[in-house]
Amino acid sequence: MKNIILIAPPAAGKGTQSEILVQKYGYTHISMGDLLREVISSGSTLGKELKNIIDSGALVNDDLTIELIYNKLKTLEGKPFIVDGFPRTMYQALEFEKVLTKLNITEYVAVLLDLSKEEAVKRIDGRLICKCGKSYNIYQDNLKPKVDGICDKCGAKLEKRDDDNVEAFKKRYEIFQTNIEPIKEHYQKLQKLEIIDVNRSISEIAEDIEKVIK
Ligand code: C5P
Ligand code: MG
Repeated sequence: MKNIILIAPPAAGKGTQSEILVQKYGYTHISMGDLLREVISSGSTLGKELKNIIDSGALVNDDLTIELIYNKLKTLEGKPFIVDGFPRTMYQALEFEKVLTKLNITEYVAVLLDLSKEEAVKRIDGRLICKCGKSYNIYQDNLKPKVDGICDKCGAKLEKRDDDNVEAFKKRYEIFQTNIEPIKEHYQKLQKLEIIDVNRSISEIAEDIEKVIK
């Protein structure tokens, strides 16, 4: 199984697809958004700064994300991984190449989940999350909680992410649109790019991803 770099606009299903791959193939899932939210949970000064940035929909400092990814990848010792939500800028993409070279990682595929803006807006509107990490969507089959507002896995009350609002979404989507073209070209040149249409069911998307990671 190849390592996976999962690139997508907000709410395209990076987390959902990663969870399937973790269950089925034993990948380690590294979500940059989750790593940053962990720093926020620690309550440190840096965490407070990050919360303001993330809640506004902006991107945090590139070098911080690169440091986080490097520290995480180096603990894996060759085990297959999915990196989700990174790189989000061209600078991150170029620095990431250096990190991969340094860690001797050559086998990977960059999977771009392609989603229309209209569908992304809808998914953001319907997304609910649990503190345990599980994510739901009240508008998507197979992603609805069994009991309204309650986590299937741990029974806790579901919440909206602070940055899942119209204002922050606009910014997140705009930033994605601005940055994606050079990143796409970068992985195309390296012959590592696979584009997958995600305006479809979860299982259809999962099947397509499976084809490109083998
Ligand atoms: O991927 P996810 O939507 O969970 O990311 C949440 C937020 O984390 C982004 O909107 C952004 O504020 C921040 N982030 C970042 N740089 C990354 C990944 C995430 O600034 N490479
Ligand atoms: Mg995510």
